[in-house]
Amino acid sequence: MTKIAIVLGGTGTVGSATATAFLKESSVSKVVVTSRSQEKLDELAKELKSGLGDDVAIRVIGIVGNPHCENGAKDMQAKVIAAVGDKIDFAVSAMGFGWFSHDPLATTSAAKIDEALKMQLYPAFECWKVIMPLVRNASGSYVFVTGGGPDMFLGPGTGGLTIAGSTSTAFAKVAMKETAGDGFTCTEVSFQARICRDPSVKPPGPITWLVSTDAGSALVSVALKRKAHVQTIVISTIEEMNEVIANGITIPLVPAIIHYL
Ligand SMILES: NC(=O)c1ccc[n+]([C@@H]2O[C@H](COP(=O)([O-])OP(=O)(O)OC[C@H]3O[C@@H](n4cnc5c(N)ncnc54)[C@H](OP(=O)(O)O)[C@@H]3O)[C@@H](O)[C@H]2O)c1
Repeated sequence: MTKIAIVLGGTGTVGSATATAFLKESSVSKVVVTSRSQEKLDELAKELKSGLGDDVAIRVIGIVGNPHCENGAKDMQAKVIAAVGDKIDFAVSAMGFGWFSHDPLATTSAAKIDEALKMQLYPAFECWKVIMPLVRNASGSYVFVTGGGPDMFLGPGTGGLTIAGSTSTAFAKVAMKETAGDGFTCTEVSFQARICRDPSVKPPGPITWLVSTDAGSALVSVALKRKAHVQTIVISTIEEMNEVIANGITIPLVPAIIHYL
């Protein structure tokens, strides 16, 4: 038990399930979870204690930081290094969830688009600059979580979601290619479905809903098995999810197109 994992955005739906899945891995000694909020970290610690017990939850290290800008990200990096050193074996970047609106783009304010990018692009971008070097130091693996917004929802009134989603998937693809030969594994996992903690409360509609605990297990499997370097793994069904959980990879499929609205 010597490996260090970090979950960026680890209090969220996907992130908290990923932190839980890392804690179940016998090779992982510490799981760093970042958040902008101490309160959310305290809440997560409580959940992990009641779900997994004190012995397991004690392996979580909460770090408060706001990677919205370079200085915020550098400050977060300093805290991470102070806590676990400058080598990280596994990083999962699962921050932000883009703003959604039914407003047509012609009447959407620049401030709204800016808000979406600040939520979904900038945290991933700034964290990449400060956390990727620590993963590279360990010859580890870095996993980007993106969504199917750009592929699934390109329709009227979806600009808020799809513009932010498109930038985050474009960012992940370029970042992977730029570091392809740098000695660590880098993978994008695109969930082309909705992910929730409790699928029994899913609303009706054409969208597939998957469970966050499965998403966490799939991301940890990708990070540990390291079979998909500079590749995008698309998960849009429970079958694909199970394949990724078992094997850390799936055959990339043409994403399902759902006509929203
Ligand atoms: N849920 C889905 O249906 C779904 C489907 C496909 C893909 N995804 C992708 O999965 C990722 C995580 O989604 P989620 O459902 O887990 O979202 P979530 O529950 O809203 O959690 C988002 C996490 O990101 C952090 N975050 C939000 N804005 C941030 C910012 N400006 N700076 C730094 N951190 C920020 C939050 O941390 P703090 O507030 O604690 O700082 C929180 O831990 C997103 O990239 C999303 O596109 C989600």
